[in-house]
This record gives sequence, structure tokens and C-alpha cells, in this order.
Amino acid sequence: MKFKALLLATALSGTLFSVGAHAAELTVGFSQIGSESGWRAAETTVSKAEAKKRNINFKIADAQQKQENQIKAIRSFIAQGVDAIFLAPVVATGWDSVLKEAKEANIPVVLLDRDIDPSGKELYLTAVTSDSVAEGKVAGEWLVKAAAGKPCNVVELQGTVGASVATNRKKGFEDGIAGASNVKIVRSQTGDFTRAKGKEVMESFIKAEGGGKNICAVYAHNDDMMVGAIQAMKEAGLKPGTDVLTVSIDAVPDIFKAMAAGEANATVELTPNMAGPAFDAVVAYKAKGTVPPKWIQTESKLYTQSDNPMAVYESKKDLGY
Ligand code: AHR
Repeated sequence: MKFKALLLATALSGTLFSVGAHAAELTVGFSQIGSESGWRAAETTVSKAEAKKRNINFKIADAQQKQENQIKAIRSFIAQGVDAIFLAPVVATGWDSVLKEAKEANIPVVLLDRDIDPSGKELYLTAVTSDSVAEGKVAGEWLVKAAAGKPCNVVELQGTVGASVATNRKKGFEDGIAGASNVKIVRSQTGDFTRAKGKEVMESFIKAEGGGKNICAVYAHNDDMMVGAIQAMKEAGLKPGTDVLTVSIDAVPDIFKAMAAGEANATVELTPNMAGPAFDAVVAYKAKGTVPPKWIQTESKLYTQSDNPMAVYESKKDLGY
């Protein structure tokens, strides 16, 4: 590992050098989930740009949604002797063996945007994620206000089964509506975080709920599924954003376009820049042994139609979504 050799040479010569100089020697491998959503595409783009800013040699392996591919990629990064591994875990379980291998090889692992089961906590250095329970809660609380005491049947489009963010966003939303007996989840199914599945599942919800007449709101664990659901509602002659309230998560440009057109109501922002804080943590850890907090939390912000959605769309549209 070039980085270790440099550190040793520097320690021997007693020369002090900046964190920036360390970064130039770092190689980081990133096991990315795939490209299921606009947010995911932006995260990949932003990660590359953040690596470039810091002069870090960055290798990305696209797992095409498969955990087995992520495990293979991690093993390959270990064999290559990278200085650190970033992992966006597609699901929360099943990482123990491979992360133990990374630990035995003395390679720190940083989780990006999704968590693993709490039992694996000693197997990674830090996790850079949002508070995904809070995101769901904010979405639920927004809906309770928007429903204003009227009976409101909600259909829910869940993310990938077994993903920490899907479990947490579901729980958070349920917490958010817990005090409002008028707001009820009547149907809930996975749309796997994709537009196509979001549309397909919404079509089945509409059919099952009297052509959509019984649906007051849609909650989607990401904006891409909501964009698909909006399409399904329009094709069924419903008016999303007016007859049917919508709230989702990510804040991708297309949801702001829909909000500006009055076809979506609210979204909770998830920053695509998880890699920037992760690189900084790894650089400080490698250079000075600074152990980062176990959780580096990124911010979540609610946007509604009153936040000038067209301006937000313009500001985001060229950012790699
Ligand atoms: O883990 C983050 C989630 O993964 C995003 O909210 C979703 O769009 C993506 O697929």
C-alpha cells in the first residue's frame, strides 16, 4: 500500500506534511449498489468529484443491485490492498464474514447512505448516513398536517426489502402518523426504489382501491418511485398533487419539476454527498489515527410546493441526477 510506505518514510524522516499530501497517495474502493434511482446516479457522480478534489485514487464497482457482487468487489479491493473501502450496503444483513476479512487485512470500511445490522458495528470505521427514521417521520408529520383531520387512506411504496433505509423510512412514517387516527396506511408494497416498479405497484394499488377513489395520499420511500406513481395516477385519470397528496424522499430534480406542475406535494432531501465526509474521515484516520464518530449524520430537509420548486429544479438539474 503506497499510503503506508509514505507514512513510514515520513515518520522515519521526521518530516511533517499536510493531510492534502496524504490524500494524494490514497486508494479507495467503493462498492456501489447500482443505478436504481436518480439519487444513486448523483451519489456516484458526486463521489467521483469529491475524490478528484482530494486527489484520491478512486475505484468504483457497480454491483447491479446484488449483494453477492458487492461481496466480490470488497474481496477484490482487499486483494488489491486499497487503503480504505466504501460500502453502500444494498441490504442490512450478511456482511459479517467479508467485513471481518477487511478488518483482518487492516483496511477500514466506511458505510455510505445505508446501515448494516447493529451486530456488525465493530466491523466498520464509521457510517455516513442520514437519519432515515427521521426522514420517514418528517414525511408522516407533513401528511398529518396536510390531511387536516380528514380521513386519509395512504398507500406506501417501500424501498428495497431488507435495506436499512426501507425499514427505517417505514418505521419513521408510522411514528409520524401514530397520533392521527384519521391517517391510515391501507396498502404497502415494495417498488424496489425504481421508477418502473413504482409505476407498476401504483397501478395495482389504484385497481385495488376503486380506481383510486379511496386513496387520499401516496408515501414513497424515494422520489423515483413517486415519479412512476404520478405517471400511473395520471394515466388512471387521477390528479396527483390535488386529489391525491404525495410525499417522498430524496429531493431529485424531477420531483421538483412535478411539484412546480402541481403534481407532487412534498419531498425530504437526502444529500448525494456522502463521500466527501467519508474521504475526510479516512484521510484524518490514516494520517493522524483520528477515529471518527461511529455515525456521521447528514442533514435532511423538507421541501414543499411553497419552496419555489422550479428554482430548486434549476439549481439541481446539472448535478448528476
Ligand atoms: O440509500 C439511499 C436510497 O437509495 C435513496 O433514497 C434511493 O433513491 C436509493 O435507491
